Amino acid sequence: MNLYKKSFLKLLDFTPEEINYLLNLSGKFKSLKKAGIPHKLCEGKSVALIFEKTSTRTRCAFEVAANDLGIHPVYLSPDGSQIGKKESIKDTARVLGRMFDGIEYRGFGQDIVEELAKYAGVPVWNGLTNEFHPTQILADMLTIKEKFGELKGKKLVYMGDARYNMGNSLMVGCAKLGMKFVACAPDAYFPDKKLVDICKAEAEKTGAEISFITEPYIAVEDADVIYTDVWVSMGEPDDVWAKRIKDLTPYRVTADLMKSAGENCIFMHCLPAFHDLKTTIGQKIYDKYGINCMEVTDEVFESPASVVFDEAENRFHTIKAVMSASLCKPEVLENV
Ligand code: CP
Ligand code: NVA
Repeated sequence: MNLYKKSFLKLLDFTPEEINYLLNLSGKFKSLKKAGIPHKLCEGKSVALIFEKTSTRTRCAFEVAANDLGIHPVYLSPDGSQIGKKESIKDTARVLGRMFDGIEYRGFGQDIVEELAKYAGVPVWNGLTNEFHPTQILADMLTIKEKFGELKGKKLVYMGDARYNMGNSLMVGCAKLGMKFVACAPDAYFPDKKLVDICKAEAEKTGAEISFITEPYIAVEDADVIYTDVWVSMGEPDDVWAKRIKDLTPYRVTADLMKSAGENCIFMHCLPAFHDLKTTIGQKIYDKYGINCMEVTDEVFESPASVVFDEAENRFHTIKAVMSASLCKPEVLENV
């Protein structure tokens, strides 16, 4: 397996074998970390972490993973650089490519991260775009594998806005890894047909199944995983809230829905989640619309079925695999 110098822009660019390789490597890094064994495989390298949108998990995962690998990370905040305002992506790519060994980008269109990769001359990693969130999917798949021992044939039901980064990327991940993916939402919230067709073609090769169901209780029958995400994503205008709440409230993950899926079903969420009133946005939504949670109830979020913090931890082990696979020659990784 050789991913040396390869960017990580979306899972569609990777074969199932390459994705499984990254998952196995992540598991090895996790074991090393738990055993307290140092693994500074990339000593002397530097990476730029561009964040045009805010982040807790992704930023911290990249910074801590970088530290453990011996990499020096430089964080560029949403308003702390010239990017986009005074300097184009193409020029930024050529500047940063001269100084850094790799670049992480979190921001808006997928075309931006693709352009960065085209001109940087060093590997670029997608830390979330409007369309895809591939490092999150690696963490999610590692978590599912840890819980069930395997991925093939497992049924993941995604509840909510399935047209955006999380719905799209989970569909791609499930298609690549031979899983059963169900998007459960009103018709208007299903992923773009072009992407669905690509995923269905992929599913034919891997034995995956992809389906779209509007009825929550039918969708979750025999589910192994119920997954949800926020109803309004970063960068979307405030005026979509009212319609999203109206359209997606029937798709909230409740204890009753979890129960109907079966006792072994786990609950997943990329986080952050609106499950209580302990956030300023959560409180504002309560004041305006009178609801005390959105995509998931506090009861489900805090239940034993919820593995959301395992997912959050796995962001960091999987991002370590992504960075090291791009920055190290394969022989260096053979000994991990
Ligand atoms: N899940 C995730 O990407 O979280 P952050 O926005 O905190 O990075
Ligand atoms: N769909 C969410 C994911 C956050 C990790 C967003 O883009 O805001």
